[in-house]
Amino acid sequence: MKIEKVGVVGCGLMGHGIVQVAAQGGFEVIVVETEQTFLDKGIARIEKSLAKLARKAVEKGKQSEDDASAFVEMARGRIHPTLDKQELADCDLVIEAIVENMNVKKALLRELGDICKREAIFGSNTSSFSIAEMGEASGRPDRMVGLHFFNPVQLMKLVEVVRTDATDNEVYEAAKAFGKACGKAPVSCGDTPGFVVNRLLVPYMVQAIQMLDRGDATAEDIDTAMRFGCGHPMGPITLTDYVGLDTTLSILEGWCERYPDEPAFAIPRSLRRLVGEGQLGRKTGQGYFNWEGDKRV
Ligand code: 3HC
Repeated sequence: MKIEKVGVVGCGLMGHGIVQVAAQGGFEVIVVETEQTFLDKGIARIEKSLAKLARKAVEKGKQSEDDASAFVEMARGRIHPTLDKQELADCDLVIEAIVENMNVKKALLRELGDICKREAIFGSNTSSFSIAEMGEASGRPDRMVGLHFFNPVQLMKLVEVVRTDATDNEVYEAAKAFGKACGKAPVSCGDTPGFVVNRLLVPYMVQAIQMLDRGDATAEDIDTAMRFGCGHPMGPITLTDYVGLDTTLSILEGWCERYPDEPAFAIPRSLRRLVGEGQLGRKTGQGYFNWEGDKRV
């Protein structure tokens, strides 16, 4: 089962990164958005990131200026933005990286089941939803896997490859090989809430926010504690801003619905309030901290 042409639906925070690493990995990539402005914004981010990676490779003496420019041109040349989902028809693998809402995801998978060729593999970058349910919606449960990347996709080395009871073995192996070709270390996991990373990470972020809400420590001190006490690159409060408060809340709401008695999934009050006020973290410039572009201010 050979993957050559990849479709990505969604060119936002995660989607643009997946498009980029797939193109860097040598795949032709069709990227679909619902509006031209979203496409333009995602492509601009990819171009900025490619330029950054090329500049770094030259600075570190890993590539000549010419090779670095050729790398940027080649990767960019493999990316084909469109607003028309029909262009996904002959893709070998289609990954959804749209909003973290199960009903919207299922509707998309149903549509993809109608549009895409029979042998296509479907992947979902969901943080927390059931891959099996999405597979059912697509009408091809045997072709469905989870392909969960981490933010920022260009730099984080992991991809979780999730299989359900129905996933065909060849499909699963092809998905893992795709992850490797994108430069990631694939880990296998079952179709459980949050897979490996988020099942551990999100409750940790919840505990940190609850500590803040109780007034036990400031956001700055909680983050400094985990950076210097545990060697984490970012503290949990900054990380919540980085992931997006809306995404974090959606993950928790989905889990609370399925596991109402699990205290690890309790939604902190300030998280709901900030999302209600439209303060979603880095992407809106305000969350638990203030941001200018990629930097906290
Ligand atoms: N593309 C290319 N280069 C990038 C980049 C991108 N998208 N993002 C950052 N960089 C570059 C920066 O420009 C910088 O380059 P420089 O050294 O030339 O200045 C370099 O990477 C390092 O970045 P920073 O100086 O901003 O800061 P850090 O050294 O702290 O590195 C980080 C940034 C890699 C994001 C690091 O802080 C980190 O690993 N943070 C933790 C992230 C994490 O835990 N992610 C997982 C979130 S959970 C998730 O995604 C799952 C979801 O389902 C919720």
